[in-house]
Amino acid sequence: MKAVVLREIGPPTNLKLEEVPDPAPGPGEVVVQLKAAALNHRDAFIRQGLYAGITLPIILGSDGAGEVAAVGEGVDRSLLGRAVVIDPGMDWGPDERAQGRAYRILGLPDNGTYAQRVKVPAANVHPKPAALSFEEAAALPLAGLTAYRAVVTRAGVQPGETVVVTGAGGGVSSFVLQIAHAIGARVFVTSGSDEKIARARQLGAEAGVNYRTGDWVKGLGGLIGGDGPDVVVDSVGGETFGQALALARPGGRVVTYGATTGATGKLEVRRIFWKQLTILGSTMGTARDFASMLAFCDRHALRPVVDRVFPLAEAAAAHARMDDAGQFGKIVLRIDSR
Ligand SMILES: NC(=O)c1ccc[n+]([C@@H]2O[C@H](COP(=O)([O-])OP(=O)(O)OC[C@H]3O[C@@H](n4cnc5c(N)ncnc54)[C@H](OP(=O)(O)O)[C@@H]3O)[C@@H](O)[C@H]2O)c1
Repeated sequence: MKAVVLREIGPPTNLKLEEVPDPAPGPGEVVVQLKAAALNHRDAFIRQGLYAGITLPIILGSDGAGEVAAVGEGVDRSLLGRAVVIDPGMDWGPDERAQGRAYRILGLPDNGTYAQRVKVPAANVHPKPAALSFEEAAALPLAGLTAYRAVVTRAGVQPGETVVVTGAGGGVSSFVLQIAHAIGARVFVTSGSDEKIARARQLGAEAGVNYRTGDWVKGLGGLIGGDGPDVVVDSVGGETFGQALALARPGGRVVTYGATTGATGKLEVRRIFWKQLTILGSTMGTARDFASMLAFCDRHALRPVVDRVFPLAEAAAAHARMDDAGQFGKIVLRIDSR
């Protein structure tokens, strides 16, 4: 089969289309013939050597949608030919509160979805939402799951609450915005471009502030009024996380699921205790979160925001777009069977 293989840490051009052996399903596994895959920032971090436990060569990609092409021993044969989306989380473990040591995400260490075919446990395939194209369905899994657990399972956002989403153009944050809006929250955003703030408003955000052109904490504080937002959902990290603590209302919640600009930054501990803040860490989600996310998207007719679709052979150009934060929403790879 054809796959995009990363053999060496480095620039996007290190992602090369190659001919590689077909995966064969083991007991309890299926092989999915992929029609689309999607990028996540994780893929860029791995390519740049900024991720733990990198093993090379690797086929990146956590997100995929396609049709079941082969089933292993013990797997229901009626799955053959079914249109599916893949839950990228494997072996979460018995504790719903946090993943166990065996937990792993498709696309490292296991080969991922930048390929014509991928092998996954049968338990990880779910029916493709009928209302979505394969490209939209491929955009859903990792980002939708992460956003759902952060907003619903962890923060428990309620109708009428005010939610701030930092870096609204990101793949996950575009879902955070949509999920919070669907719940009935008032959503405000930050972004590095006015055009992306306008896009966020089309998705239901009330207003936004450009973090490149001024003091976004002051700007959003003024727009929201009162004591500030009930919830801030952040994946920017670095200095932004400390600023999120400054913006949140007394008694508010701050959810973090990422650190795009760095894992450390100035953080005033007194803000946490004096304002009685709750800090919630969130990563990916359980199998139950994944199923609930699919049901939520179906119930609220949510459509993933697809930024741009590249052919699989142009994975390098797709990565360059993510490196430049050029996207609004998810960058997708279209995968042909020949
Ligand atoms: N813990 C988990 O399970 C989990 C799951 C998924 C992702 N993540 C992490 O979450 C982060 C986002 O992932 P993603 O795939 O959604 O990435 P992405 O699509 O590349 O989005 C990143 C966004 O961050 C914003 N950003 C970049 N620099 C910024 C700055 N200086 N200040 C404010 N915002 C800035 C940009 O928003 P604008 O374009 O609007 O400016 C950019 O689009 C990554 O760090 C990723 O590793 C964690």
